[in-house]
Amino acid sequence: MAENILIINGAARKNGNTDMIIQKIIESSLNKDAKINLVILRNKKISDCIGCHLCHRKDQCSINDDMIEIFNSINKSDMIIFASPIYWWGVTGIMKIFIDRLYFYHSSNNKSLISGKKAVVVAPMNMKQDNYKTQLFINFYDILFDNLELVKCNTFLFDNVNEKGEILNNPDYIKQAHIFGKSL
Ligand SMILES: Cc1cc2nc3c(=O)[nH]c(=O)nc-3n(C[C@H](O)[C@H](O)[C@H](O)COP(=O)(O)O)c2cc1C
Repeated sequence: MAENILIINGAARKNGNTDMIIQKIIESSLNKDAKINLVILRNKKISDCIGCHLCHRKDQCSINDDMIEIFNSINKSDMIIFASPIYWWGVTGIMKIFIDRLYFYHSSNNKSLISGKKAVVVAPMNMKQDNYKTQLFINFYDILFDNLELVKCNTFLFDNVNEKGEILNNPDYIKQAHIFGKSL
């Protein structure tokens, strides 16, 4: 059976490096049976988690917004690709709001809905990746995945890209996206 792949695009900038590299990944997988669902967070209405803990008392989230539809997509997926540029050595604001709402799955009521799924990190960034701050960024995702029992299977750090679309000037990055896309 084809794998259900959910791509969460947390880029704030339209047609930027994250958008471009995701497009390359998707294009590369076109001949495969994989079902790819791309969710662009900046086009969605997703409110902050308000910490009401309803998800821990019952199996539901108290906020009725676009995240409800995304919860359904997560439940059906086999792999979740977390794509966000690095902002202040973390993810973008909209990606963080999305991640906060994954608290729904931190509840023992709901953990089985996400546990065991594959996770992939895609992160364009301006700086060189060989510094301790990049490790902080990686640690953030590792802790998230540990808590949600997601199985990290790949991390793509596309460093030294800043201008819109600059990522496409790097043949190695295009190759990585192509190989990954083909593997889906
Ligand atoms: C608010 C802001 C914060 C950023 N913080 C970092 C950072 O901490 N480390 C880094 O390497 N790049 C940082 N960058 C650069 C972006 O990661 C880089 O420009 C990336 O290519 C943007 O991806 P996009 O084109 O998909 O928006 C920052 C950019 C912005 C706008």
